[in-house]
Amino acid sequence: MCGIIGYTGIEEAGDMIVDALEILEYRGYDSAGIALCRTDGSVRIRKCAGRVKDLRSLCQREDIRGTCGIGHTRWATHGGVSDGNAHPHQYGKVTLVHNGIIENYRDLVRKYDLQERLQSQTDSEVAAAVLDHFYNGDPFAAIRKAVLKLKGTFALSILFEDFPGIVFAVRNVSPIVIGNVRGGSMLASDVTVLGQYTREYFVLPEFHVAVLKKDGVELYDMSGEATEPEWLTVDWDVDRSGKGGYPFYMEKEIMEQPKVIADTVRPRICGGIPDFTIDGIPDSLLADCRRICVVACGTAMHAGLVGKALMQSFVRIHMDVELASEFMYTDGIVDEETLVIAISQSGETIDTLEAVKYARKHGAKTLAIVNVRGASVALASDYVIYTNAGPEIAVASTKAYTTQLAALYLLTGRMAYVRGSFGEKEAKAFAAELMRVPEAMRQVLDRREEIHYIARSILNAKDVFMMGRGLDYSILLEGSLKLKEISYIHSEAYASGELKHGTIALITEDTPVVAVVTQSRLQSKEFSNIKEVQSRGAGVILFMKETFGMDKESSWNSVFKLPAMEDGFMVMPASAALQLLAYYVSLDKGLDVDKPRNLAKVVTVE
Ligand code: G6P
Repeated sequence: MCGIIGYTGIEEAGDMIVDALEILEYRGYDSAGIALCRTDGSVRIRKCAGRVKDLRSLCQREDIRGTCGIGHTRWATHGGVSDGNAHPHQYGKVTLVHNGIIENYRDLVRKYDLQERLQSQTDSEVAAAVLDHFYNGDPFAAIRKAVLKLKGTFALSILFEDFPGIVFAVRNVSPIVIGNVRGGSMLASDVTVLGQYTREYFVLPEFHVAVLKKDGVELYDMSGEATEPEWLTVDWDVDRSGKGGYPFYMEKEIMEQPKVIADTVRPRICGGIPDFTIDGIPDSLLADCRRICVVACGTAMHAGLVGKALMQSFVRIHMDVELASEFMYTDGIVDEETLVIAISQSGETIDTLEAVKYARKHGAKTLAIVNVRGASVALASDYVIYTNAGPEIAVASTKAYTTQLAALYLLTGRMAYVRGSFGEKEAKAFAAELMRVPEAMRQVLDRREEIHYIARSILNAKDVFMMGRGLDYSILLEGSLKLKEISYIHSEAYASGELKHGTIALITEDTPVVAVVTQSRLQSKEFSNIKEVQSRGAGVILFMKETFGMDKESSWNSVFKLPAMEDGFMVMPASAALQLLAYYVSLDKGLDVDKPRNLAKVVTVE
C-alpha cells in the first residue's frame, strides 16, 4: 500500500520527492507528506490529509529546503485520515515514513511507555519511537535493536537528526528498491517511480540496512557486515510522459492492450507453438504435475478463473483457484505434485506472497505470473513468467489482467502440447488463434464510442446484474468488479443458471442486466436465462459474438456484437468491451477514474 520515497544528493530534494509521490500516488492517496533534512541535521516536515497536489500547494505556501529527504503517500490502516496521522512521523531524533503494519504496536507502547509523547494514532509513529528509544548516537545499532522488536511488515525510510544528508532504510516483507541517481541515491517502494530516475536498481534484502549517501549506497546485513547488492535493470518502458492524450490512465491502458498482449505472446511462440524457453521453464514442470492451484487476489484471481476454465477444457487437468487471502487460513491443500501459480500484477500483494511461501513450504512447485520485474512474488517463486504490460498506473487493472490471460493461454497451449492433449497441429492452431487476439481487441477498441453510448443507459442505475455461463461467467466476475470499483454502482455477476436460485428476486424493471453470450454450446441456454430476467422487467444489454443469430423475439436495450474468434478466445474481446463499459460509466459520472475512493493499487497489508 503506501508509497515511500527517499533521496539524498546534490539536487534540491523537495520538488523531486513531491514529483515522485505523484507517480506513487496509486499506492494510496488519502494523505501525503515530506520531511527534508537541513545541513545542521534539523528536519522540517510538511504533511496533510488529501492528495499529493494538496501537499504540493502546502509546500509552495510553506517552503522548506534541503537536498536530503523522505516522502510518503498514505493508504490509512491504523489511525484515520488526518493531517496528524499522515507520514512522516517524528519522535525525538528519528523521522520516518513507513509502509506495512506493525502488529504489536500496542504492546510496544506499553513496554517502552510511549503513550504520553505520541502525537498520532498510527502504528508507524510507534516504530519511530522504538527506534528513538534505542538510539544513542549509532543509527545502525538502533535499527538492529528496534527491528527485532517490531512484529509485522515494514518498509522504513529513516532520517536521524545527527546524520544530516543520510537516508537509512530497512524492511521486512514490504518492498524497497534502491538505485544511484544523478547526483545522489534514491529509494522507493517500487520501480515504477525509481525507473524514472535510473535503470539500475536493487531490491533491498529483508533485514538488511541500506545507507543512502550523496556519493552512493552502502548495504549491510544485520551483523554489520557490508554486502554487495544484486543489481537489476528496469527493462520496461518507464516513460510516463503523460496519459497519451487520454483523460485518464485507465483509458490509455485499455487502448494499449493490443500492443502489450502481442508483446507478451510473441516472444513465447516458437515454431508456431507456445514455448517458455525465454522464461527458463522446463516442460517437466508442466508435464509432471497432477493438479494446478492458482493463488491470487482481486482481478488477478479473476484471471485465474479464466485460466481454470481453459485448463480444464483444453488440458483436462484439475485446477483450483484460491483467494490468496484465504488460502493459508483454510489450510490450502498442496503437495509435491501440485503446481501453484501465483498471479499478481504488482508482485507485492502480501496475501499472494504469503500463499507462495506456504505452497513452497508444503513442497509444491511455484510459478509466478507477474508484471513488475524483481517483485517479491517473482523472487519468492521457483519460476516466473513476466507479462509485458508495462507500468499500469490506474488503480483498476485492465492491461495487466488481459496480459495475465495471455500468459494463461500460453500455459494452457504448452501444457496441452507437452501432456499430449494437443498434437502439433492443434498446438499450432491454438497459438495462431492467440496471435489473432490483438486484432480482435483492436476492433472492439475502435468501436468504443458505441460502448460509450451504451454506458449512458446505466449511469443512474443503483444495481447492475451481469449474467453469463462458462467462460462468459468468468469474465463477468471481473467486468462486475470493474464497474463497481470505479463507478460505485453495486454490481454482481451471476452464472446464468444460478439467478433463479435466489437473485432473480432482486430483478425489477429498474435493474439493468448485462449479458455476455459468446459460447456456441451454451447459446440457447443463455438466451432462455436472459428471457427469464426480461420477463421480470429487466432491460438487457447484450454483448454477443457477431456470428450468433439474434433472438428476434426479445427486445434488447442495447446489443454490441463482438468480433468472432474461436469460442475459447472470446473472453479477450469481451473483456475489452466490459472494461470500456465500466470506464465510460465512471467518466460520465464525473468520477476520478484512476483513483477510486478507498482503494490502492498495491496491497501490501493483509
Ligand atoms: C488491488 C488492486 C487490484 C488488484 C489486486 C491484486 O486490489 O486494486 O487491481 O487486482 O490488488 O493486485 P496484484 O498486484 O496482486 O495483481
